[in-house]
Amino acid sequence: MGVKSLDDLLAEGVHGQRVFVRSDLNVPLRDRAITDDSRLRASLPTLRRLREAGARVIVASHLGRPNGQRVSALSLRPVAARLAELLGTGVAFCEECVGERAHFAIGELGDGQLLLLENLRFYAGEERNDPDFSKALAALADIYVNDAFGTAHRAHASTAGMAAHFNRIAAGDLMGSELRHLLVIREPIRPLLVILGGAKVSDKLSVLEALAPHADVLAIGGAMAYTFIAANAGTTGNSLVESDRFGDALAVQRAARDAERRLLLPSDHLVADRPEADAPTRVVAEIPQGALGLDIGPETASRYASEAAIAKTIFWNGPMGVFEIEAFAAGTRTVAAAVADSPATSVVGGGDSLAAIHQLGLGNRIDHLSTGGGASLEYVQGLTLPGVAALER
Ligand code: 3PG
Repeated sequence: MGVKSLDDLLAEGVHGQRVFVRSDLNVPLRDRAITDDSRLRASLPTLRRLREAGARVIVASHLGRPNGQRVSALSLRPVAARLAELLGTGVAFCEECVGERAHFAIGELGDGQLLLLENLRFYAGEERNDPDFSKALAALADIYVNDAFGTAHRAHASTAGMAAHFNRIAAGDLMGSELRHLLVIREPIRPLLVILGGAKVSDKLSVLEALAPHADVLAIGGAMAYTFIAANAGTTGNSLVESDRFGDALAVQRAARDAERRLLLPSDHLVADRPEADAPTRVVAEIPQGALGLDIGPETASRYASEAAIAKTIFWNGPMGVFEIEAFAAGTRTVAAAVADSPATSVVGGGDSLAAIHQLGLGNRIDHLSTGGGASLEYVQGLTLPGVAALER
């Protein structure tokens, strides 16, 4: 089974055709202003190429989690305006995703013109993958393109259900590029270094289980490291610990050992009495009573950086500490710089890891910045993404 690419689709011709493009335009907003437009920029190549080929382009996305309700703060209207700026052309906007008004707005499109539909998640049928909603969406277009890699792990009407209604379907350029780059982590040139951070073992358990026996080295940071340390009878003071996950943490370590892989835990920590910017900090090897681990220590950061220097492939997801607060950001920054400096093929996913890369201006020194946090984690652990499976013919 194969997935048709945008190149294949364009070679067959799309001029004058109505093409439904599911993009992931789920961008962070503050007071309805877009604070990071990376996902919009990443979605442009597919839109541009379809437009240049004379397609009538219907773009659709979700924004946030309105749970089937019309939430005006989650309207995609500001996204239409930003897309228009980035594309240098008008982008029409339709407040409905299905029905008469949507059909009318699409009927007004000329060849090479674009229209953005309102937030798909204003309709309860979207997340339920409701067959009637899928059918109503599919009735809008002649061709279906899924470019929403960031949402490909969701089996929703626009990412999965509607594909079956089309004879002509394809993956967009972003979807194709994400899958190609992430396949490098599934089938790596070794040694493969995986650096995983984040708050909880429970959030990343399936990826830990899948990657512990797969990665040559799995380096753990962030608060989830404290659960591992506590599970091994180490001291963690007041640090965030999931005591109900000790068994899981030990099983992950065992899986790495059985596969003769190395799982690395922090050997020093930056601690404070409270997680606040003005709290006095110190570096310790063992976290004492009353103290809170908030970042990996400098020795750990340099151990992880040395692993990055000799790896041939690197996958990094998740911060090493409370990165949003400057005083606890050094570990994440050192790791970001080491990944960028490494000659390895590097792939970074997840909001905080990407923020660290961007803050340091290192974006162009990473081979691939994934637009999908959850989707990239699911893909690298070998799971089938419903949004990709729906494109297979
Ligand atoms: C994301 O931001 O990870 C994707 O857009 C998916 O959003 P969701 O987690 O709300 O489904």
